[in-house]
Amino acid sequence: MAKLGVNVDHVATVRQARGTVEPDPVMAAALAELAGAEGITVHLREDRRHIQDRDVEVLRKTVKTRLNLEMAATDEMVAIALKILPDMVTLVPEKREELTTEGGLDVCMNRHLVQKQTGLLRQGGIVVSLFVDPDLEQIKMAHRVGAQYIEIHTGTYCEARLTEGRQKELQKIEQAIRAARKLGLGVNAGHGLDYLNIREVVALGGIEEFNIGHSIVSRAVLVGMERAVREMVALVKGG
Ligand code: PXP
Repeated sequence: MAKLGVNVDHVATVRQARGTVEPDPVMAAALAELAGAEGITVHLREDRRHIQDRDVEVLRKTVKTRLNLEMAATDEMVAIALKILPDMVTLVPEKREELTTEGGLDVCMNRHLVQKQTGLLRQGGIVVSLFVDPDLEQIKMAHRVGAQYIEIHTGTYCEARLTEGRQKELQKIEQAIRAARKLGLGVNAGHGLDYLNIREVVALGGIEEFNIGHSIVSRAVLVGMERAVREMVALVKGG
């Protein structure tokens, strides 16, 4: 049965909007674990726009399930990972101006760098996953450079509006799962998954862990609104 890894980056985004200490992604991670999450994911971006170094350090001490650190394949990030020692590192492409990760890592184009950083991380005892599009060449290269896992980028499937395009993307994901498993790679998946589009991906089978952030944090804000307002109304009324 697949596991859910919860990405708490957006909790940090809200905190950073005010430059304060709340909401704390560390507390969100603990609540996610209490609710059944089997992993916590954070993306430490080079520009530190949401998750901060402190968050990763504290999460390493408090996460009771597994900590997956998403990061760019840079020397700075590899040094941080080797100090923090998350259970898994997922290497992702990173562009400063993007709103979120756009597409998978081009392992074929960057194979020497990815191979070097994967080797360093693995020597440090960290399991390495590469975030890739459902593309057979990328998957073969992920295996060749020494990754133990891939995370299939599901964004294109999630964005496909028409049924036909969606089915085509789903087929690519299915083929990617098969190819990766044949090579002995573990398979995770994520990006853009929500409460509606996840069913068909789960039904494919073969995916170990789903990493989901935006839809969960979005829903948390809405389902938590009533309670949060009730509590404040009681205080305003002097109750
Ligand atoms: N997996 C990777 C590699 C990502 O970069 C992200 C976004 O940070 C996710 C999963 C989660 O995507 P979403 O926030 O759309 O659920």
